[in-house]
Amino acid sequence: MTTAADIATLEDRALAETAAATTAAELDEVRVRHTGRKSELAEILASIGSLPPADRGTIGKAANEARRNVEAALASRKEVLEAAALSAQLAGDRTDVTLPGDPFPRGALHLLSQVRLEVEDIFLALGYQIADGPEVETEHYNFTALNTPEGHPARSSSDTFYVDGTPGTILRTQTSSVQVRVMEARRPPLYVISPGAVYRRDDVDATHSPMFHQLEGLAVDEGLSLAHLIGTLKHVAGQLLGSTEYRIIPDFFPFTEPSIQLLVRWTDRSGRSSWMELLGAGMVDPNVFSFAGYDSERWTGFAFGMGLDRIAMVRHGVPDLRMLFEGDLRFLEQFS
Ligand code: PHE
Repeated sequence: MTTAADIATLEDRALAETAAATTAAELDEVRVRHTGRKSELAEILASIGSLPPADRGTIGKAANEARRNVEAALASRKEVLEAAALSAQLAGDRTDVTLPGDPFPRGALHLLSQVRLEVEDIFLALGYQIADGPEVETEHYNFTALNTPEGHPARSSSDTFYVDGTPGTILRTQTSSVQVRVMEARRPPLYVISPGAVYRRDDVDATHSPMFHQLEGLAVDEGLSLAHLIGTLKHVAGQLLGSTEYRIIPDFFPFTEPSIQLLVRWTDRSGRSSWMELLGAGMVDPNVFSFAGYDSERWTGFAFGMGLDRIAMVRHGVPDLRMLFEGDLRFLEQFS
């Protein structure tokens, strides 16, 4: 016969074991042993119906109360163990965030990129758009469509890099190669610049490199004249170099007529002043318009091309073109 005292003993044992459990697994064993379906307490509860009616009330009440007490003790022990496990894990994972990290030097734009972005900004403010063109180019866009006939000296393999095995393919010698590509892709009015690398067969020295950078400009609209070209160039030279003295001299390019060269008065850091060739330019030759399928009776335009490396050199007093391409950080860091 189960008595209320037996139940109290059972309860005390379950509570003691609950308090003694130190891990979640141990606690789970205690739970199964004392409140599971095969536990003594469960058996007592199941047998209540077969007890003499006079005992049912007391024993049933005592057993139910014991089960509630044990379950409550299990739940609160579970919380305590979980909290302890979490703080142990956090303590184990702790890192000292105040330790110095691995130094990671901060990068900066190359001097040439800085100059290119600056020139781009000047033209963007004038409403120009930026276009890209391929560096591996066809003779057609680099020469033929620019009114430069077969046999022209610039087309010779002593001046131009030809790509082996693909006839008619070269490394572009000038960003002017983008002119007809842009005209074919869009309709006027057009105000476009196109910066990028160009290639010529030159021996390397302080002012020559087989790869350098240009920035092309092309404007096509109704009624454009040489005055618009010169006005634009003066504005750009003023913004870029602070130049206020200019000379315009006649020049020749196959794809512009007339063609000019713009020189600006430039005073270097040592105070020496000289005339510097800034760019070549001119009014778009009607033959170029016909290659692009533009009606030269309706549209006129101007084009110009400047050397970006030169601008970077004079502006920052860089004495040797090679410094721009060598990637020596001691040099480059001065401009970061
Ligand atoms: N492409 C010419 C050069 O490389 C420069 C130029 C561009 C001249 C556009 C006239 C018009 O020298």
